[in-house]
Amino acid sequence: MTELMIPAYANFGGKIHGGHLLSLMDKVAYACASRHAGTYCVTVSVDTVHFLKPVEVGELVSFQASVNYVGNSSLVVGMRVTSENVQTRVVNHTNTSSFTMVARSEDGQKVQVPPLILETTDDVRRFFAALKRRELRQRNRETMKAYDHSDFRLSGEVGAALTDERCVIQLPEDASSNS
Ligand SMILES: CC(C)(COP(=O)(O)OP(=O)(O)OC[C@H]1O[C@@H](n2cnc3c(N)ncnc32)[C@H](O)[C@@H]1OP(=O)(O)O)[C@@H](O)C(=O)NCCC(=O)NCCS
Repeated sequence: MTELMIPAYANFGGKIHGGHLLSLMDKVAYACASRHAGTYCVTVSVDTVHFLKPVEVGELVSFQASVNYVGNSSLVVGMRVTSENVQTRVVNHTNTSSFTMVARSEDGQKVQVPPLILETTDDVRRFFAALKRRELRQRNRETMKAYDHSDFRLSGEVGAALTDERCVIQLPEDASSNS
């Protein structure tokens, strides 16, 4: 998908709003996933999005996406975003990300998606990399559970961890006495 960035998409700094780019990326991920699945798809997760370069008003932004991995009901869509100055034709790489989408039937149930046909070494590399990232994410999810801190209490461990951080703890009397 390619779209011209008009002034209405700009933020207070005069550059294209990051949220607008994310919204366009989500549309592209939807189209790519839905086309492969042949069904409606929902976004379940978006990998870290790095904004590598600002996008200027008047630039032509292109989103290139491919389905890099399919599980049972999920699909991973990899995306590369570039912006082109239409007068100088200078092209900048602005974002790379991947979206995990889940295919849904008309009654809202998860559905199995068709397998992916890998036709080049790059296709195999992307599929393998996405598979490894999926395994890593599943392991991370387990590890991160220990750090969700829903039952957080102030302790010596917390104090020691924050000693060299750039924060000042100034709790009201009653909050610190609860620890
Ligand atoms: C996405 C959704 C259907 C998953 O439902 P669920 O009952 O948790 O389903 P499961 O745990 O069986 O996961 C389904 C698939 O999603 C994958 N998945 C679930 N959570 C994930 C996450 N946080 N990151 C990556 N993949 C994830 C699972 O690995 C599984 O993949 P597989 O079928 O290929 O093996 C449900 O969470 C949902 O409806 N979320 C809201 C989506 C939404 O509204 N998006 C924004 C608007 S489009």
